[in-house]
Amino acid sequence: MISNKINSGINGNIKIPGDKSMSHRSIIIPSISKGISEVTNILMSDDVLHTLNAFKLLGVKIITEDKKITIYGKGLDSLSKSNKNIYLGNSGTSARLLTGLLASQSFNTIIEGDKSLSSRPMNRIIDPLKLMGAKFENTSGKLPLKIIGSKLKNTIIEINIPSAQIKSGLLLAALKTEGTTKIIEKNITRNHTENMLKMFGADINIEKIQKEIHISINGNKELSCNKIDVPSDLSSSAFLIVAALINKGSKISLDNININPTRNGILIALQKMGAKIKFKNKRTIGGELISDLDIEHSDLNGCELEADMAKLMIDEYPILSIAAAFANSPSIFKGLSELKVKESNRLEMIKTNLIRCGCFCEIKNDDLLIKPSKKYNPINNKIRTDFDHRIAMSFAVMGSKINNLVIEDSDSINTSFPNFKEIFNKAGGNLV
Ligand code: S3P
Repeated sequence: MISNKINSGINGNIKIPGDKSMSHRSIIIPSISKGISEVTNILMSDDVLHTLNAFKLLGVKIITEDKKITIYGKGLDSLSKSNKNIYLGNSGTSARLLTGLLASQSFNTIIEGDKSLSSRPMNRIIDPLKLMGAKFENTSGKLPLKIIGSKLKNTIIEINIPSAQIKSGLLLAALKTEGTTKIIEKNITRNHTENMLKMFGADINIEKIQKEIHISINGNKELSCNKIDVPSDLSSSAFLIVAALINKGSKISLDNININPTRNGILIALQKMGAKIKFKNKRTIGGELISDLDIEHSDLNGCELEADMAKLMIDEYPILSIAAAFANSPSIFKGLSELKVKESNRLEMIKTNLIRCGCFCEIKNDDLLIKPSKKYNPINNKIRTDFDHRIAMSFAVMGSKINNLVIEDSDSINTSFPNFKEIFNKAGGNLV
């Protein structure tokens, strides 16, 4: 894909697809609940389709019509052995969440993924699951992974890595475990799993104790079916938001965006930089805070973000870096070690590509420093993405101000935002 400079800004009311994290959970949780659940506005991207296919292989009846799915759940004990390995493509969320759920089943499963997913760490979920008595074969700590279904025991687990995927995997494992499992999160991370489990009737209790979150969950309680209308994804919105902020003459509105406070860091960071963002019609549905947003072109200043922000916006540093490249002063984003184990080494990808675009960028002890220029003359117009969807979309936005950036392996965008090119171009972008 080639991203070209635009002349008249990014404009209009833009419809953003459903939230990716919630879409995965909207398949997983109804599949192990009792009764028929209807999910609307689900994201039909490659990652989510891998989760959907996984549950079909595990014996769940799921009917798909456009962006609506109907799931015929038969309860906690209803999954059956897949007659083939479950392929999860590029999806870290599917891999970590399913590892937890499948560890507590009465059958074995082999999960596998693409090249990128097969290089990402799985020990972060395997090790705490082992404390519950989970068993695995061949633990190189990477996929493919054979999960030996076992009867798990309740215990207390502390999670030190800020990861919603680890927490969610453990919560799903605890659903079929007798007694109370207690999970102590040292860092707050996105809480969609807890919200949805509550909505489906799980026996779950959540307490905030200073900076920690203590979750207690009683296993062997059947979940009941429900309806979910998936709100639009803030992570996907962020590409359009930053495109509007950095291009003169832009004014956009986005409806029904999930601004859950456990993952709204990008909005806080951009406002700190001087972004004009208006929140309208805030409401809470199924525990999720939702708002319509108005955004217009703004003169941005650089900013310093402490490591604490990373857990509230881990997926948004690539696009925030593009905003920083067009600010009036330097930015420093601290404590980004988790960025190195995403779909690519995002910390390196941001630096490599900003430098190719002619922007000064440095990494020191996992802190990212960006010094913007008034004008950019790329020293190499090829953007290396390592098949990472968020790197591809971030530099597509960068191209709207530079011209002729060649985004390599841009098919990866289907992972989370299949109609990105169409939506971006309709709003004023120039992607070919
Ligand atoms: C996700 C959690 C985050 C995020 C990922 C989606 C989720 O990963 O980066 O894109 O849906 O739970 P970690 O929990 O590993 O930080």
